[in-house]
Amino acid sequence: MKAIVYNGPRDVQVKDVPDPKIKHPSDAIVKITTTNICGSDLHMYEGRTSLKPGTVIGHENLGEIVECGNAVARVKAGDLVCIPFNASCGYCKNCERGLTAACLTLNPGTAGAGYGYADMGELPGGQAEYLRVPYADFNCLKLPDGAAEQQDDYVMLSDIFPTGWHATELAGLMPGESVVIYGAGPVGLMAAYSAQIKGAGQIMVVDRHPDRLALAEKAGAVVINDSEEDPVERVMELTMGEGADRGCECVGFHAHDPQGHEVPNEVMNNLVKSVRATGSLGVVGVFMPEDPKSSHELARKGELAFDFGEFWSKGLRMATGQTSVKAYNRHLCKLIELGKARPSFIVSHELSLEDAPDAYRHFDAREQGWTKVVLRPHATQSKTRDTLQAHPKKSRAHSHAHARH
Ligand SMILES: NC(=O)c1ccc[n+]([C@@H]2O[C@H](COP(=O)([O-])OP(=O)(O)OC[C@H]3O[C@@H](n4cnc5c(N)ncnc54)[C@H](O)[C@@H]3O)[C@@H](O)[C@H]2O)c1
Ligand SMILES: [Zn+2]
Ligand SMILES: [Zn+2]
Repeated sequence: MKAIVYNGPRDVQVKDVPDPKIKHPSDAIVKITTTNICGSDLHMYEGRTSLKPGTVIGHENLGEIVECGNAVARVKAGDLVCIPFNASCGYCKNCERGLTAACLTLNPGTAGAGYGYADMGELPGGQAEYLRVPYADFNCLKLPDGAAEQQDDYVMLSDIFPTGWHATELAGLMPGESVVIYGAGPVGLMAAYSAQIKGAGQIMVVDRHPDRLALAEKAGAVVINDSEEDPVERVMELTMGEGADRGCECVGFHAHDPQGHEVPNEVMNNLVKSVRATGSLGVVGVFMPEDPKSSHELARKGELAFDFGEFWSKGLRMATGQTSVKAYNRHLCKLIELGKARPSFIVSHELSLEDAPDAYRHFDAREQGWTKVVLRPHATQSKTRDTLQAHPKKSRAHSHAHARH
């Protein structure tokens, strides 16, 4: 089959690799019909992780089950399923508590496994024609009737919609409260969208890319372009000098200033400054135990010059980590089915696998108009969307006008 293979820094290629096979009776093989490129893939693409060359990448996967092992009882061939980026067993100490992002079974010796991802076990990714899913009964979210025509919405259940939601959960956001979100990439946009669905009183999103900020505005946020104004001062102005009730970190360890220089502690410290005393922070952006290629000494050791004194003095709280997708995906799926959420409004490109290496280059450069890329491993045609014309609305039908790419 064809798959996207990581060759080394800024080098991914479409290659022929062996088809996945059932290895364990609880496995299923899924024909991938939609799979996304994620901001997390860019950490690997940029060569900032220990990912082994030769790895098939891709962890935001949706497709049709084509084969099941003998022990699979709940799902069956023909089912359209969305697969959480965390692969989990369902029976370990952490999975039992719903903390599937910290499964102890699938990546022995550490907590948490995923598809096609550095330090998350040996499972190949799904930017490919087929994917092996372990513990298929547990890991596959069976999609409702009509989902085949709305895959760009449902595929967001694999990661970024639950992750955006998780950011607001970790921050403890309640209806009526204000929240400041740093980062308007797909995750920050989904955090803003989740905050809107949850009935936040005021949503503020900080980034410097006008196309991403325009989508944040569509999701109901007041946007702050930090290349034009100081984001902390602006949040203070917008909250009558008090600061936001809650803050979400949706950037990660590659935080940089608007000119592109990496400043690893910038977002964390801006959050401490722009959230009010007794508020709380949800940190979903990825930070690494070590980042040997960083130009910052502390970051190389996985450390951060964090304003702990101010954090402590304000009595702030913070929660961090990967999303246990299964804690949210069933409920968020219902919102899509009922027409109450339409996360595909961020999708800018629908491309074939052949176009993926080029798409990685554009998305990595955060080029104007590249807000979220979905890949169709079994399609030959590629399309771009005008995201700024798209608007989330209560409809199950696609209303986007597609332009040929
Ligand atoms: N916790 C999880 O389970 C989980 C899941 C998915 C993704 N992630 C992580 O979330 C982060 C965001 O993912 P994404 O797909 O949106 O990535 P992305 O790289 O597309 O978006 C990040 C955005 O942050 C902005 N940014 C950079 N520095 C900034 C600063 N100083 N202030 C404000 N904005 C700044 C960039 O301009 C960009 O638009 C990544 O670190 C990703 O790995 C975590
Ligand atoms: Zn992802
Ligand atoms: Zn487990």
